[in-house]
Amino acid sequence: MMGDTLVTGAAGFIGSWLARRLLDQGHAVLTIDNLSSGDIDNIPERCERIIGDVSDPAVIARLDGRTFDAIYHIAGQSGGIPSFDDPVSDLNSNVASTLLLLDYAYRAKCPVFVYASSMSVYGDQELMPVVETAPTVPKSFYAVGKLASEQYMRLYAERGLACTVLRFNNTYGPGQSLANLRQGMVSIFLGQALSSRRIHVKGSPDRFRDFVHISDAVESLVLAGAPTHGARFTVYNVATTHKTTVRELVETIRGNLPFPVEVCYEGSTPGDQFGIYCSYKRIHADLGWSPTVSLTEGIANTVAWALATQMSGRLR
Ligand SMILES: NC(=O)c1ccc[n+]([C@@H]2O[C@H](COP(=O)([O-])OP(=O)(O)OC[C@H]3O[C@@H](n4cnc5c(N)ncnc54)[C@H](O)[C@@H]3O)[C@@H](O)[C@H]2O)c1
Repeated sequence: MMGDTLVTGAAGFIGSWLARRLLDQGHAVLTIDNLSSGDIDNIPERCERIIGDVSDPAVIARLDGRTFDAIYHIAGQSGGIPSFDDPVSDLNSNVASTLLLLDYAYRAKCPVFVYASSMSVYGDQELMPVVETAPTVPKSFYAVGKLASEQYMRLYAERGLACTVLRFNNTYGPGQSLANLRQGMVSIFLGQALSSRRIHVKGSPDRFRDFVHISDAVESLVLAGAPTHGARFTVYNVATTHKTTVRELVETIRGNLPFPVEVCYEGSTPGDQFGIYCSYKRIHADLGWSPTVSLTEGIANTVAWALATQMSGRLR
């Protein structure tokens, strides 16, 4: 039996994939999730669970006396758009939670702390692909919170806690909520297509992103949490360096659906970055990670999963 790990947010998309993967590797997994955007059915059965808020000191106090081989802080308000509705709630959910967990990890002498940050910390950049040393110019309250969490990690790393930041680019794949129309470009478009046979894109079709399949994203987390890695503060992009325009994404999704889908480009969203794709050279050099699933393959398996889920009546 391998050691215990803490994965916050295992009722959500990335956290549930990671928890399953760690359980399959033989780890015991404890998760904390407040079910604000996640679904309790996503938490793998073999996971020990605390249903509660990571920004609540009383919840973190329940960890006292426990030790973990690795802490993966994945839980959080996961969208840029909702952060404009309630910036203070975003701050609590995404920054206070990190600080409380870091303090716990430091006291408990946890060997490694891994955090799900975001490429949104970069804002709009001129030089592409974006490298980790690029200036950070966050455009949303969400992105400010991600960057603040990273900076708290830097301070804890100076005190001896090994901290690794993963700046995820747009992560997509089977299991992402198709009902949450405010987070995840692929899942929003696919959810709309399935429910109304119409995709409404808020913003220019020429905007562009870097899409990472969930299986690759999970691999980066596993590598970052490995015991041999750590002892300092490290920041990695999790990216493919492949530029895909919104128009290309929409057409790829449409091309995989067995029915016609109308598309309308109208409106905008607050804090939207026009375009970004990132370098993964650093994580490749240090951890040997590289993306393995192309967008063509990834969208095909995501659409197949979504259609099967809809057929079974389990579409959420
Ligand atoms: N999916 C992406 O493209 C992407 C890209 C960059 C960064 N991220 C980050 O990765 C993490 C996971 O994203 P996801 O796509 O799985 O989102 P998700 O919304 O599916 O999962 C987030 C989970 O965290 C839980 N949660 C939220 N706030 C909480 C709190 N205060 N206490 C306890 N639980 C809480 C939710 O209930 C949910 O289960 C988030 O931190 C997100 O910001 C995701």
